[in-house]
Amino acid sequence: MASTVRDAGESLEVKVDKSRILCVGLACLDFIQVVRDYPAEDSDQRSLDHKWQRGGNAANNCTVLSQLGASCEFLGPLSSKPTGSFVVEDFKAHGVCLDNCVFYDDCEVPASSVLINSQNGSRTIVHSNLNLPELSFEDFNKLDLSQYSWIHFEGRNIPEVVKMINWVHAWDKGPPLKISVELEKPRVDTRILDIVELADVVFVGKDFAEFMGWKSTAEAIAAVGELSKPGATIVVPWGASGAAARCPDGTLVESPAFPPEEVVDTLGAGDTFLATTVFALSLGKSVADSITLGCQIAGAKVGAFGYQGLD
Ligand code: ADP
Ligand code: FRU
Repeated sequence: MASTVRDAGESLEVKVDKSRILCVGLACLDFIQVVRDYPAEDSDQRSLDHKWQRGGNAANNCTVLSQLGASCEFLGPLSSKPTGSFVVEDFKAHGVCLDNCVFYDDCEVPASSVLINSQNGSRTIVHSNLNLPELSFEDFNKLDLSQYSWIHFEGRNIPEVVKMINWVHAWDKGPPLKISVELEKPRVDTRILDIVELADVVFVGKDFAEFMGWKSTAEAIAAVGELSKPGATIVVPWGASGAAARCPDGTLVESPAFPPEEVVDTLGAGDTFLATTVFALSLGKSVADSITLGCQIAGAKVGAFGYQGLD
């Protein structure tokens, strides 16, 4: 099945292959408060706005992919409790397939408290997962891989994700699937580097790069390039500076950021960039065009609250 979408990068009409993009990772509940000024400890203020939003990197990737017109599926653990059903209903409202998710009746949905500073759109996240288990290899190897063209793994629960990716590589009943991974959370243990050599496309978040002591996109690309497989693409978004990438032939390319008139909400900017870049790469676009489109759509996202109107 195919459909036509407008490419924001080049204003071209392009054919979209509807082969599904699968995003493996976390879904959580974000409770967001928009504050006039970033609060001092032990202070008391009224917020300007608040809302509940479905969050989590892979979940946000799906929100954006679905808006861009991609057929996408989320795979991860979900809570059947009332707070968890907010997350499930919102996935459904966005047309994201949940067919293979693992539901837990007795576990709490992971949650984030997020402060958005209205002065500059910065987001400060405090995240917790009380008891929802991570996705295991046994949950993953039930999938019918022939449904997918691309599988993206949020970098978490690394030993299990290594098994999942190796299983995908061993699968031989159709054209090889593209694998992308994300190194993003600075708190993640450094075994996360084990997934680099297994991926066709490696995304390295700025927070993770800085946590590793890599002070620029060039340093991050060089360090990850030492570990990646030959011909892998390495993509490094860098906040308001835009993004850089190493192409399969080793060429380095960059995109500027596309700042909106006012930056109001940077929550999920990286997730938006990643989803858009994966979408463009999955359509066969060049790495340079893909990261440019990623920066354009992420630029639009930081100019508005939430993820509406990105298509
Ligand atoms: P994360 O959400 O993981 O911290 P980043 O801050 O690196 O992600 O941002 C990802 C992408 O979002 C950047 O590559 C850029 O294109 C866009 N972006 C982020 N902040 C801004 C900003 N202030 N102005 C314009 N674009 C931005
Ligand atoms: C943004 C985000 C939020 C979530 C947090 C999880 O990238 O996915 O939606 O609360 O990170 O760490």
